[in-house]
Amino acid sequence: MGMESSFVWMNGELVPYANATIHFNTPALHYGLAVFEGIRCYDTVSGPAIFRSREHAERLLASARILGFRDLPWTVDELMEAFRLVVRANQFTECYIRPLIYLTGGGWNLNIDGGQPALAISTWEWKNYLGPEALENGIRANIASFTRHHPNVMMTKAKISGNYANSVLARTESMRLGFEEAIMLDPQGYIAECTGENLFLVRKGKIITPPISAVLEGITRDSLLTVAKDLGYEVVEQMIARDQLYIADEVFVCGTAAEVIALREIDYRVVGSGKMGPVTRQIQTVFHQAVRGDYARSADWLDPVYLPETPSPALHLPITAPASRPL
Ligand SMILES: Cc1ncc(COP(=O)(O)O)c(C=O)c1O
Repeated sequence: MGMESSFVWMNGELVPYANATIHFNTPALHYGLAVFEGIRCYDTVSGPAIFRSREHAERLLASARILGFRDLPWTVDELMEAFRLVVRANQFTECYIRPLIYLTGGGWNLNIDGGQPALAISTWEWKNYLGPEALENGIRANIASFTRHHPNVMMTKAKISGNYANSVLARTESMRLGFEEAIMLDPQGYIAECTGENLFLVRKGKIITPPISAVLEGITRDSLLTVAKDLGYEVVEQMIARDQLYIADEVFVCGTAAEVIALREIDYRVVGSGKMGPVTRQIQTVFHQAVRGDYARSADWLDPVYLPETPSPALHLPITAPASRPL
């Protein structure tokens, strides 16, 4: 996976990719004291645009607040502008955007107040997290032997870097077993989410997803709930037991990286027809339209990277870019 770019945004400056490094003695690395976002920029009818940029910026600051950072210097609007800037600086049309607020310069006494927050934003051209095959044919998953976070052990509403050791344990196990994704149960034994996706099932035309109490408030999840209601589906948020997945007509998962993916087999049991079902396909199709600017809500959900009146990338190059690079 190529994660290269020309520039990484670091604390207000565009730093050449090779120089975007941090010191080994950074507590974020040792204790997972960082919060991050995963955001996508799509090539839309009105040029490159960031999908639900405001919601991602808000969730980044919410994660920071949950971890305990205080008095952060960045506003939602400044974050959104920095996301646009890093895409423009790299002249990407479709990319993934990864902001990360990390603890630096102190914090070794396990007190977040001992260090300072820093912000960096990287971007790279990342087309398909689970591959094009998965988009069309769905994937095979199993229930992880690892439990998802207890809401009072790790904070489930925050994308805290350290939280993701739990996802890595589960996904590594599933992939070593030959599956493509892990479904994680909450500490009570109900379905929580996948390692980087929220989960939905369809039964008798009704769409069901777990309540947000123990899972990440996925922005794709929110978009799909809206799309499903727009399409006239009955949608309910309720606890889901493992065996409800076995007898569902369709199961699908969603996230910024994965988009909308059918689960065609769970724990060696074929789900529904064993292919992507009609409801999943319809929602996937509308989601793809929405992110490319072709849906009634697209204008609200997409933040263009270039100003509409001056669409040429050359006019939007960052003034802070190092002069040494021919832009
Ligand atoms: C644990 C977890 N659940 C769900 C999601 C999906 O969230 P979103 O749709 O906002 O990307 C993600 C990815 O961000 C995640 O890491």
